Amino acid sequence: MGLRTTRSTGTDNDSKCGMEESTPSILCRGVTKQYAHGVRRVDALRGVDLSIEGPGFHAIMGASGSGKSTLMHLVAGLDRPTSGEVSVAGVRVDAMSEAELTLYRRRRVGIVFQHFNLLASMTALENVMLPALLDGQPRRECEARARHLLEELGVHDRAEHRPDALSGGEQQRVAIARALYFAPPLVLADEPTGNLDSEAAARLFAVLTAVAKTHNTLLLMVTHEATAAAHCQRVIVLRDGVVAGSFETASDGSAAGRRLDAGALATRAAELARPPR
Ligand SMILES: Nc1ncnc2c1ncn2[C@@H]1O[C@H](COP(=O)(O)OP(=O)(O)O)[C@@H](O)[C@H]1O
Ligand SMILES: [Mg+2]
Repeated sequence: MGLRTTRSTGTDNDSKCGMEESTPSILCRGVTKQYAHGVRRVDALRGVDLSIEGPGFHAIMGASGSGKSTLMHLVAGLDRPTSGEVSVAGVRVDAMSEAELTLYRRRRVGIVFQHFNLLASMTALENVMLPALLDGQPRRECEARARHLLEELGVHDRAEHRPDALSGGEQQRVAIARALYFAPPLVLADEPTGNLDSEAAARLFAVLTAVAKTHNTLLLMVTHEATAAAHCQRVIVLRDGVVAGSFETASDGSAAGRRLDAGALATRAAELARPPR
Protein backbone atom coordinates (compact mmCIF):
# COMPACT_ATOMS: atom_id res chain seq x y z
CA MET A 1 0.00 0.00 0.00
CA GLY A 2 1.43 3.37 -0.98
CA LEU A 3 0.97 5.51 2.08
CA ARG A 4 3.72 7.96 1.30
CA THR A 5 2.77 11.55 1.90
CA THR A 6 4.69 14.70 2.43
CA ARG A 7 4.83 16.10 5.91
CA SER A 8 3.03 19.43 6.19
CA THR A 9 5.24 22.36 5.36
CA GLY A 10 6.48 24.55 8.16
CA THR A 11 4.28 27.46 9.17
CA ASP A 12 4.26 29.88 12.07
CA ASN A 13 2.11 27.39 13.90
CA ASP A 14 4.67 24.66 13.36
CA SER A 15 7.58 26.68 14.52
CA LYS A 16 5.75 27.46 17.78
CA CYS A 17 5.86 23.75 18.47
CA GLY A 18 9.48 23.80 17.33
CA MET A 19 9.66 20.23 16.02
CA GLU A 20 9.07 20.32 12.28
CA GLU A 21 11.02 17.78 10.25
CA SER A 22 12.76 16.43 13.33
CA THR A 23 13.39 12.77 14.10
CA PRO A 24 10.50 11.41 16.12
CA SER A 25 11.40 10.53 19.69
CA ILE A 26 9.83 10.24 23.12
CA LEU A 27 11.72 10.86 26.33
CA CYS A 28 10.16 10.50 29.78
CA ARG A 29 12.16 11.31 32.89
CA GLY A 30 10.87 10.59 36.38
CA VAL A 31 7.27 11.01 35.27
CA THR A 32 4.65 10.73 38.00
CA LYS A 33 0.91 11.24 37.80
CA GLN A 34 -1.42 11.32 40.76
CA TYR A 35 -5.18 11.46 40.57
CA ALA A 36 -7.42 12.50 43.41
CA HIS A 37 -9.99 9.76 43.74
CA GLY A 38 -12.46 11.03 46.32
CA VAL A 39 -10.40 11.34 49.48
CA ARG A 40 -7.95 8.77 48.17
CA ARG A 41 -4.90 9.52 46.04
CA VAL A 42 -4.18 7.22 43.12
CA ASP A 43 -0.55 6.99 42.00
CA ALA A 44 -1.15 6.10 38.35
CA LEU A 45 2.51 6.68 37.38
CA ARG A 46 5.31 6.46 39.96
CA GLY A 47 8.43 7.53 38.09
CA VAL A 48 8.46 6.48 34.45
CA ASP A 49 11.80 6.63 32.64
CA LEU A 50 11.51 5.84 28.97
CA SER A 51 13.40 6.63 25.80
CA ILE A 52 12.24 5.78 22.29
CA GLU A 53 14.25 7.07 19.34
CA GLY A 54 13.46 7.26 15.67
CA PRO A 55 10.67 5.94 13.49
CA GLY A 56 9.25 2.48 14.14
CA PHE A 57 6.43 0.56 15.74
CA HIS A 58 6.51 0.05 19.54
CA ALA A 59 4.06 -1.60 21.93
CA ILE A 60 3.18 -0.83 25.52
CA MET A 61 1.83 -3.75 27.51
CA GLY A 62 0.90 -4.26 31.16
CA ALA A 63 -1.97 -5.30 33.37
CA SER A 64 -5.14 -3.25 33.55
CA GLY A 65 -4.52 -0.27 35.81
CA SER A 66 -0.73 -0.30 35.31
CA GLY A 67 -0.82 3.23 33.88
CA LYS A 68 -0.71 2.64 30.10
CA SER A 69 -3.49 5.05 29.16
CA THR A 70 -2.24 7.67 31.62
CA LEU A 71 1.20 7.58 29.99
CA MET A 72 -0.32 7.88 26.51
CA HIS A 73 -2.37 10.88 27.62
CA LEU A 74 0.74 12.65 28.92
CA VAL A 75 2.69 12.00 25.70
CA ALA A 76 -0.33 13.14 23.66
CA GLY A 77 -0.48 16.41 25.60
CA LEU A 78 -4.01 15.63 26.78
CA ASP A 79 -2.93 15.91 30.42
CA ARG A 80 0.12 17.04 32.39
CA PRO A 81 2.34 15.00 34.68
CA THR A 82 2.34 15.71 38.41
CA SER A 83 6.14 15.79 38.19
CA GLY A 84 8.86 14.83 35.74
CA GLU A 85 9.55 15.60 32.08
CA VAL A 86 7.82 14.45 28.92
CA SER A 87 9.65 15.41 25.72
CA VAL A 88 8.64 14.64 22.16
CA ALA A 89 11.15 15.29 19.38
CA GLY A 90 13.24 17.15 21.93
CA VAL A 91 10.48 19.54 23.00
CA ARG A 92 9.04 19.54 26.52
CA VAL A 93 5.35 18.74 26.15
CA ASP A 94 4.78 19.10 29.90
CA ALA A 95 5.96 22.72 29.73
CA MET A 96 3.81 23.85 26.79
CA SER A 97 1.21 26.59 27.21
CA GLU A 98 -2.41 25.69 26.51
CA ALA A 99 -2.17 27.36 23.09
CA GLU A 100 0.96 25.37 22.23
CA LEU A 101 -0.68 22.16 23.41
CA THR A 102 -3.67 22.76 21.16
CA LEU A 103 -1.38 23.08 18.13
CA TYR A 104 0.78 20.17 19.24
CA ARG A 105 -2.24 17.86 19.56
CA ARG A 106 -3.66 18.97 16.26
CA ARG A 107 -0.57 18.95 14.08
CA ARG A 108 2.29 17.02 15.66
CA VAL A 109 0.69 13.95 17.16
CA GLY A 110 -1.94 11.62 15.72
CA ILE A 111 -4.17 9.93 18.25
CA VAL A 112 -6.20 6.78 17.61
CA PHE A 113 -8.53 5.82 20.45
CA GLN A 114 -10.02 2.43 21.21
CA HIS A 115 -13.53 3.74 20.66
CA PHE A 116 -12.55 5.65 17.50
CA ASN A 117 -14.10 8.91 18.78
CA LEU A 118 -15.64 9.76 15.42
CA LEU A 119 -18.40 12.38 15.44
CA ALA A 120 -21.69 10.57 14.81
CA SER A 121 -23.35 13.46 12.97
CA MET A 122 -20.57 13.74 10.38
CA THR A 123 -19.64 11.56 7.42
CA ALA A 124 -16.34 9.69 7.30
CA LEU A 125 -14.96 12.38 4.98
CA GLU A 126 -16.05 15.22 7.28
CA ASN A 127 -14.54 13.47 10.28
CA VAL A 128 -11.16 13.25 8.54
CA MET A 129 -11.34 16.88 7.39
CA LEU A 130 -12.40 18.34 10.71
CA PRO A 131 -8.99 18.93 12.37
CA ALA A 132 -7.71 20.63 9.20
CA LEU A 133 -10.81 22.83 8.92
CA LEU A 134 -10.37 23.82 12.57
CA ASP A 135 -6.78 24.63 11.69
CA GLY A 136 -8.04 27.11 9.10
CA GLN A 137 -7.00 25.20 5.97
CA PRO A 138 -8.97 25.85 2.76
CA ARG A 139 -11.92 23.47 2.45
CA ARG A 140 -11.02 22.23 -1.05
CA GLU A 141 -7.53 21.26 0.03
CA CYS A 142 -8.87 19.55 3.12
CA GLU A 143 -11.33 17.54 1.11
CA ALA A 144 -8.74 16.47 -1.45
CA ARG A 145 -6.30 15.32 1.23
CA ALA A 146 -9.03 13.58 3.26
CA ARG A 147 -10.21 11.69 0.17
CA HIS A 148 -6.64 10.72 -0.62
CA LEU A 149 -6.12 9.32 2.89
CA LEU A 150 -9.41 7.42 2.84
CA GLU A 151 -8.31 5.90 -0.44
CA GLU A 152 -4.89 4.94 0.95
CA LEU A 153 -6.64 3.22 3.84
CA GLY A 154 -9.06 1.45 1.54
CA VAL A 155 -12.27 3.09 2.76
CA HIS A 156 -12.84 5.77 0.10
CA ASP A 157 -16.09 4.09 -0.96
CA ARG A 158 -17.40 4.79 2.57
CA ALA A 159 -16.51 8.50 2.50
CA GLU A 160 -20.11 9.77 2.51
CA HIS A 161 -21.31 7.39 5.24
CA ARG A 162 -21.80 8.28 8.87
CA PRO A 163 -19.95 6.18 11.48
CA ASP A 164 -23.04 4.14 12.42
CA ALA A 165 -23.16 2.80 8.86
CA LEU A 166 -19.53 1.59 9.05
CA SER A 167 -18.09 -1.61 10.51
CA GLY A 168 -15.68 -1.40 13.45
CA GLY A 169 -12.71 -1.96 11.14
CA GLU A 170 -13.90 0.76 8.77
CA GLN A 171 -14.44 3.22 11.61
CA GLN A 172 -10.94 2.47 12.87
CA ARG A 173 -9.48 3.17 9.41
CA VAL A 174 -11.33 6.47 9.25
CA ALA A 175 -9.94 7.33 12.70
CA ILE A 176 -6.44 6.51 11.44
CA ALA A 177 -6.94 8.63 8.32
CA ARG A 178 -7.92 11.52 10.58
CA ALA A 179 -4.88 10.96 12.80
CA LEU A 180 -2.60 11.01 9.74
CA TYR A 181 -3.98 14.20 8.20
CA PHE A 182 -0.99 16.35 9.13
CA ALA A 183 1.46 13.46 8.64
CA PRO A 184 2.51 13.72 12.29
CA PRO A 185 5.90 12.30 13.28
CA LEU A 186 4.24 10.57 16.24
CA VAL A 187 1.10 8.42 16.21
CA LEU A 188 -0.34 7.08 19.46
CA ALA A 189 -2.92 4.29 19.52
CA ASP A 190 -4.59 3.10 22.74
CA GLU A 191 -5.85 -0.47 22.25
CA PRO A 192 -6.79 0.24 18.62
CA THR A 193 -7.96 -3.32 18.00
CA GLY A 194 -9.96 -3.68 21.21
CA ASN A 195 -13.23 -3.58 19.29
CA LEU A 196 -12.18 -5.52 16.19
CA ASP A 197 -12.40 -9.20 15.29
CA SER A 198 -9.10 -10.94 14.64
CA GLU A 199 -9.30 -10.58 10.85
CA ALA A 200 -10.02 -6.85 11.00
CA ALA A 201 -7.26 -6.49 13.60
CA ALA A 202 -4.75 -8.25 11.32
CA ARG A 203 -5.68 -5.92 8.44
CA LEU A 204 -5.30 -2.93 10.71
CA PHE A 205 -1.78 -4.01 11.69
CA ALA A 206 -0.79 -4.32 8.07
CA VAL A 207 -1.96 -0.72 7.64
CA LEU A 208 -0.22 0.53 10.78
CA THR A 209 3.03 -1.21 9.87
CA ALA A 210 2.91 0.40 6.41
CA VAL A 211 2.19 3.77 8.00
CA ALA A 212 5.17 3.56 10.34
CA LYS A 213 7.47 2.62 7.44
CA THR A 214 6.39 4.95 4.69
CA HIS A 215 5.57 7.98 6.83
CA ASN A 216 8.76 7.76 8.86
CA THR A 217 6.50 7.71 11.88
CA LEU A 218 7.05 6.69 15.46
CA LEU A 219 4.01 4.61 16.28
CA LEU A 220 3.32 3.75 19.90
CA MET A 221 0.50 1.34 20.60
CA VAL A 222 -1.03 0.15 23.86
CA THR A 223 -2.25 -3.40 23.53
CA HIS A 224 -3.26 -6.40 25.62
CA GLU A 225 -2.74 -8.81 22.80
CA ALA A 226 0.54 -10.56 22.11
CA THR A 227 -0.52 -11.16 18.51
CA ALA A 228 -0.78 -7.37 18.16
CA ALA A 229 2.51 -6.64 19.93
CA ALA A 230 4.27 -9.20 17.71
CA HIS A 231 3.95 -6.66 14.86
CA CYS A 232 6.06 -4.17 16.83
CA GLN A 233 9.84 -4.01 17.06
CA ARG A 234 9.97 -3.40 20.79
CA VAL A 235 7.65 -4.13 23.70
CA ILE A 236 7.68 -1.90 26.79
CA VAL A 237 6.01 -3.37 29.86
CA LEU A 238 4.49 -1.21 32.60
CA ARG A 239 3.93 -2.56 36.08
CA ASP A 240 2.25 -0.57 38.79
CA GLY A 241 3.08 2.80 37.27
CA VAL A 242 6.72 2.18 36.34
CA VAL A 243 8.52 0.63 33.37
CA ALA A 244 9.18 -2.95 34.45
CA GLY A 245 11.33 -3.62 31.39
CA SER A 246 11.37 -3.82 27.63
CA PHE A 247 12.53 -6.24 24.96
CA GLU A 248 13.01 -6.42 21.20
CA THR A 249 10.74 -8.73 19.24
CA ALA A 250 13.52 -9.60 16.79
CA SER A 251 15.56 -12.47 18.22
CA ASP A 252 19.21 -11.87 19.06
CA GLY A 253 20.46 -11.64 15.50
CA SER A 254 21.69 -15.24 15.19
CA ALA A 255 18.93 -16.07 12.71
CA ALA A 256 18.36 -13.08 10.46
CA GLY A 257 14.80 -11.87 10.39
CA ARG A 258 13.50 -14.27 13.04
CA ARG A 259 11.04 -12.77 15.45
CA LEU A 260 9.43 -13.77 18.72
CA ASP A 261 6.10 -15.44 18.04
CA ALA A 262 3.00 -14.34 19.94
CA GLY A 263 3.30 -17.17 22.49
CA ALA A 264 6.92 -16.41 23.37
CA LEU A 265 6.16 -12.71 23.46
CA ALA A 266 3.21 -13.20 25.82
CA THR A 267 5.40 -15.24 28.19
CA ARG A 268 8.13 -12.62 28.16
CA ALA A 269 5.69 -9.76 28.77
CA ALA A 270 3.89 -11.68 31.54
CA GLU A 271 7.21 -12.32 33.33
CA LEU A 272 7.94 -8.59 33.35
CA ALA A 273 4.40 -7.65 34.34
CA ARG A 274 4.40 -10.00 37.34
CA PRO A 275 5.24 -8.36 40.69
CA PRO A 276 8.63 -9.47 42.03
CA ARG A 277 8.41 -11.93 44.93
N1 LIG B 1 -9.15 10.35 35.74
C1 LIG B 1 -8.80 9.50 36.73
N2 LIG B 1 -9.15 9.74 38.00
C2 LIG B 1 -8.80 8.89 38.98
N3 LIG B 1 -8.07 7.77 38.80
C3 LIG B 1 -7.71 7.47 37.53
C4 LIG B 1 -8.04 8.32 36.43
N4 LIG B 1 -7.52 7.77 35.30
C5 LIG B 1 -6.89 6.65 35.67
N5 LIG B 1 -6.99 6.47 37.02
C6 LIG B 1 -6.40 5.37 37.80
O1 LIG B 1 -5.01 5.34 37.52
C7 LIG B 1 -4.54 4.00 37.40
C8 LIG B 1 -3.96 3.78 36.01
O2 LIG B 1 -5.01 3.89 35.05
P1 LIG B 1 -4.80 3.72 33.49
O3 LIG B 1 -3.67 4.61 33.06
O4 LIG B 1 -6.11 3.95 32.83
O5 LIG B 1 -4.34 2.20 33.36
P2 LIG B 1 -4.35 1.20 32.12
O6 LIG B 1 -4.59 1.99 30.88
O7 LIG B 1 -3.02 0.54 32.17
O8 LIG B 1 -5.46 0.22 32.39
C9 LIG B 1 -5.74 3.12 37.72
O9 LIG B 1 -5.71 2.80 39.08
C10 LIG B 1 -6.91 4.00 37.40
O10 LIG B 1 -8.03 3.64 38.17
MG1 LIG C 1 -6.11 1.87 29.35
